[in-house]
Amino acid sequence: MNKRIAVLPGDGIGKEVAKGAVEILQAVGERFGHQFSFAYGKIGGESIDEFGTPLPDETIQLCKESDAILLGAVGGPKWDQTPAHIRPEKGLLKLRKDLNLYANLRPTMYYESLADSSPLRKEVIQEVDMLIVRELTGGLYFGKPSERVQHNGEDAVVDTLYYEKAEMYRVIKLAFELARDRNKRVTSIDKANVLESSRMWREIAEEVAKDFPDVKLDHMLVDNAAMQMVMNPKRFDVVVTENMFGDILSDEASVLTGSLGMLPSASLSENGPFLYEPIHGSAPDIAGKNMANPLAMILSAAMMLRVSFGLEEEANEVERAVNQVLDAGIRTSDIASFGSPHTSTSKMIDEVKAVLLDNEAIM
Ligand code: NAD
Ligand code: IPM
Ligand code: MN
Repeated sequence: MNKRIAVLPGDGIGKEVAKGAVEILQAVGERFGHQFSFAYGKIGGESIDEFGTPLPDETIQLCKESDAILLGAVGGPKWDQTPAHIRPEKGLLKLRKDLNLYANLRPTMYYESLADSSPLRKEVIQEVDMLIVRELTGGLYFGKPSERVQHNGEDAVVDTLYYEKAEMYRVIKLAFELARDRNKRVTSIDKANVLESSRMWREIAEEVAKDFPDVKLDHMLVDNAAMQMVMNPKRFDVVVTENMFGDILSDEASVLTGSLGMLPSASLSENGPFLYEPIHGSAPDIAGKNMANPLAMILSAAMMLRVSFGLEEEANEVERAVNQVLDAGIRTSDIASFGSPHTSTSKMIDEVKAVLLDNEAIM
């Protein structure tokens, strides 16, 4: 198979982990006889420094011409004071919007080998298998106006939460479709006791549910959901929610697996290309130290193989290699038990590659 992959490493640990995903995909290509070509584009802070904008047209063009996109992470303290419209994060948001990547799939699962990496008890997290479907191109993130204003002589500010019915409908429908192939349960999360947008969201969820009699729908308020997610995470199968709630709950959900450094994601549109990125950020506190966990990014590449290219066996093999490395006790510091030995980003990547190519025993 011949595929062209756009790689946007971005800032901070984005660069370190994107390198890992590319190496793993190269190993997959080598083992299974696929031709993957990689074309690099700039995004985020690095792009602001070079072009004065967080998302140059060339990068958008490159993405549109590619079969799939891998993204590391954007942002960092260097650009925290730049004007709102040229912040690194704006580049990522614009890319999601330009490519119409309306649904962000964030799977969270239990790894037996990481049971001790989570601060939660094993009985709580055992067998967790949850898929958060986050709306990605609407809501507070994109509503206009979003600006400082003067009101009655006072400094004030406005952010706007705007959704069209069709935007809610398509992502909720996708969640139901995905639930059909899983445990047939959808939990729709909202704040319908306060927000009109949530009341509309809830109505639409009920409407969609009528077309899926085999899938059970329940609703939960977001504050309760944040609590349930750590109290009783096994009750969730597919979770569907609007943009900002999904952002917050998915970082929380990473604690069920053990670390933010473990959670991959896929962002889907109607027609592709799709984008794959870890859910974590550029981690300025550990950037440049060869400490980041590359597995969220590597698992995102596995999602790419499965979802964009239909390469199920190849995706399974990457996931199997990750599991084998974890089972062998190889850990970056975020998943190492306190005080126990840990390895570097590059060594972790090498280990996964070695298992994948089957040519070196795990140390
Ligand atoms: P973060 O996700 O970058 O880091 C949060 C914490 O998790 C940090 O302690 C970090 O060291 C740790 N962490 C994250 N990924 C890790 C990994 N792979 N391995 C080990 N530890 C990991 O969130 P933050 O610190 O709130 O944000 C930093 C910057 O990243 C901000 O500029 C933010 O806007 C940006 N950000 C970008 C994305 C993205 O590009 N998709 C996502 C989230 C945050
Ligand atoms: C994420 C990030 C982004 C978001 C930021 C960087 C815009 O937190 O991908 O989860 O909030 O969507
Ligand atoms: Mn986030």
